[in-house]
Amino acid sequence: MSKGDSAVPLLAARELTKAHGRTEALRGASVELGAGEILAVTGTSGSGKSTLLHCLAGIVRPDAGSVTYAGQRLDQLPEKRLSELRRSDFGVVFQFGQLIPELTALDNVALPLMLAGTDRGDARARAGEWLERFGVRGQGELRPGEMSGGQAQRTALARALVTGPRVVFADEPTGALDSLATEQVMTALAHTAREAGTAVLLVTHDDQVAAYADREVRLTDGAVAVAGVTA
Ligand SMILES: Nc1ncnc2c1ncn2[C@@H]1O[C@H](COP(=O)(O)OP(=O)(O)OP(=O)(O)O)[C@@H](O)[C@H]1O
Ligand SMILES: [Mg+2]
Repeated sequence: MSKGDSAVPLLAARELTKAHGRTEALRGASVELGAGEILAVTGTSGSGKSTLLHCLAGIVRPDAGSVTYAGQRLDQLPEKRLSELRRSDFGVVFQFGQLIPELTALDNVALPLMLAGTDRGDARARAGEWLERFGVRGQGELRPGEMSGGQAQRTALARALVTGPRVVFADEPTGALDSLATEQVMTALAHTAREAGTAVLLVTHDDQVAAYADREVRLTDGAVAVAGVTA
């Protein structure tokens, strides 16, 4: 967002620092995400992208700095309120899977709805629609151990979007997909985000993926090196 822009961002991180043991993963990273905006976070392996995503999504607490979401300090919320807020407002696609191994694709996607009180039949019906959008409806009865990496990623995206979150955090959501599948998945993700006004924080090292974003920030050694407009 430019300096002249007076709109308050939906989500903002200021001067985040976070160490994993002796590794300083974040060293003063600041980033803003507007409502309905698609922001790409790029950078080399180890530059702190996943750590930044985890801090913004309230999964990891930063050592210093602030994370503000819709006017409230996420980094200061008690754990219970934080997990409620994550469940109601956020959808997360982790870099490494995290589908529930015992559940089929359909039930993995239905689960967040059932946790929010939707009955199983309705939840499974809506889950099927989301699998369809990401091209894996036919794999609905597979368990994660039986899926390809790409099928698991598409299922994880469907699960992150099924509840209609205000913000989706996606960490390398196309890392296991070929170029054509990446295009299909990104088109579906961008379309969904535009249609529903969902903000998307998209971590990627792939320029083809970053091109779907409105804006890109590049991390180098845990801080934002370049912030630019891509569209
Ligand atoms: N749980 C952890 N324990 C120890 N060090 C960690 C942990 N998680 C991350 N790190 C370190 O913190 C730094 C930033 O890691 P991070 O996962 O945020 O990078 P990244 O940009 O997402 O990398 P990649 O592109 O490979 O996914 C790296 O040096 C990494 O080795
Ligand atoms: Mg990562």
